[in-house]
Amino acid sequence: MWKYLSVFCFLTNNAFSLELPACFKHLRGQVDDCYCKVEDVDNTHSVSFEPLSKLVQRNYFRYYKVNLDKPCIFWKERGECTRSTCALKTCTQAEVPVGLADNNNKSSGPTCEEEQELSKINNVISDDRIAALQKLEKHEADNINFCVQEDEDSEKAEFYDLLQNPERYTGYSGEPARRIWRSIYEENCFKPKKDSLFIDLTHKSINYMCKEKRVFFRVVSGLHSSISIHLAAKYPVQDFFGQKWGPNLAEFSRRFLPESTNGEGPHWLKNLYFVYLVEMRAITKALPLWKSWDFYTGNPEEDTKTKEDVVDIVESLLSCPDTFDEAQLFKGPAAGEILNDFLVHFRNISQIMDCVTCDKCRLWGKIQIRGLGTALKILFSGGKPENLALERGEVVTLFNAFNQLSHSLHYVKQFKDQMDYSEYPGPPEESDRKQDNIFSTFSRGEL
Ligand SMILES: Cc1cc2nc3c(=O)[nH]c(=O)nc-3n(C[C@H](O)[C@H](O)[C@H](O)COP(=O)(O)OP(=O)(O)OC[C@H]3O[C@@H](n4cnc5c(N)ncnc54)[C@H](O)[C@@H]3O)c2cc1C
Ligand SMILES: *[C@@H]1O[C@H](CO)[C@@H](O)[C@H](O)[C@H]1NC(C)=O
Ligand SMILES: *[C@@H]1O[C@H](CO)[C@@H](O)[C@H](O)[C@H]1NC(C)=O
Repeated sequence: MWKYLSVFCFLTNNAFSLELPACFKHLRGQVDDCYCKVEDVDNTHSVSFEPLSKLVQRNYFRYYKVNLDKPCIFWKERGECTRSTCALKTCTQAEVPVGLADNNNKSSGPTCEEEQELSKINNVISDDRIAALQKLEKHEADNINFCVQEDEDSEKAEFYDLLQNPERYTGYSGEPARRIWRSIYEENCFKPKKDSLFIDLTHKSINYMCKEKRVFFRVVSGLHSSISIHLAAKYPVQDFFGQKWGPNLAEFSRRFLPESTNGEGPHWLKNLYFVYLVEMRAITKALPLWKSWDFYTGNPEEDTKTKEDVVDIVESLLSCPDTFDEAQLFKGPAAGEILNDFLVHFRNISQIMDCVTCDKCRLWGKIQIRGLGTALKILFSGGKPENLALERGEVVTLFNAFNQLSHSLHYVKQFKDQMDYSEYPGPPEESDRKQDNIFSTFSRGEL
């Protein structure tokens, strides 16, 4: 009798009720430490998702030069990921647009770099702009660098075509991957007071910290969510025609279900919204800078189009006006000290990325941390955003990082739809009922 009753409960709970799966129940209302609601973010996101996705396919954003050969300064690396899924394709010289290759070929000559740079720019932009550029130098002090300088001029730096190397499942896992996340959360995130009972960083314990320290955790956690979502959404799956890259609902569920994450999963998803809002705020705040930026690739027509697209997208993002208020942070008597700690820790994380032993993960890890660092630089540097002296690499990573977050929001929506509209697959087996959640029934279908 009990058996039938519980089957009945299972049916009413899962097949007939309109209740959202547990992961998504918390995914509504206010985004903590922000002024925006999840629903508002979703609306703005639905407008900007496609255009942004097209923008980063343009040459200016598509090719990124980086040195992936920097040593890991913290420990002796072990367990290089040698799977083909971890490997990267580099570009041949011919693939990289002329303008980009030129701009980055500074390391060769003994001449003063600035002079060389300016004389190059001279060919393509007006004298006014050069005067403005020179003035920019004076504002260097206003540029707070959240990341350790990248050495794009190094012999070892290479161009990568980001379209050819998408972020997706690589199989990088186990101790090497865990160690990175552990050192980020345990050694570099702030902790609630030592004498408090809470040691772990949870959605509850972080409330014992000041806002700045919570923000640090939220941006890192949101980025972590984005990485997890990407690998779950682009997973090697088998279908009728063979192997392909597609969504794996079971993988997503395992990483975000309250049951398998001590109740934290839904909050990690909300942190994804948080970091999305932080980057969105930075990108919209810097609109005056984009309006005067040269998205130079050596093809004037393309460059104009790129700029128009950037401005259009940023203007569409302005429809979500209250996002994240950076003015609330780093004020008061202890501001200098907290900002300093924040910087030290964030720069440290940017260096930890060199310890990631899967090439593809390292590439995207570095891009996304640098992009996030650029967002923070825009938000927290003194002076006007239009006076910021950003490097090309910072602009490229900022927009690519934002696009990855934008894709993650898109995938979250898809996973949600997959759960909402999937049909009840038949009577549950004993093991499913014990878990009593909607995900286990779909896991069977997926695997
Ligand atoms: C920089 C970097 C980039 C990576 N890129 C890729 C990639 O492109 N493709 C790929 O397949 N793999 C990638 N990985 C590996 C991937 O992130 C996981 O480490 C791996 O899939 C193993 O997952 P896991 O289940 O052990 O948990 P992990 O994701 O390794 O998480 C470790 C622990 O952190 C906590 N945690 C998990 N999520 C959050 C969150 N959002 N917020 C706060 N705490 C959290 C949990 O307690 C969890 O047990 C990357 C790893 C790193 C460090
Ligand atoms: C870059 O510099 C090297 C060494 O001086 C030179 O051989 C090469 O042609 C340059 N590349 C471009 C694209 O100018
Ligand atoms: C930087 O990170 C490493 C590795 O996690 C850690 O050992 C070290 O304490 C960190 N340094 C600072 C200043 O936080």
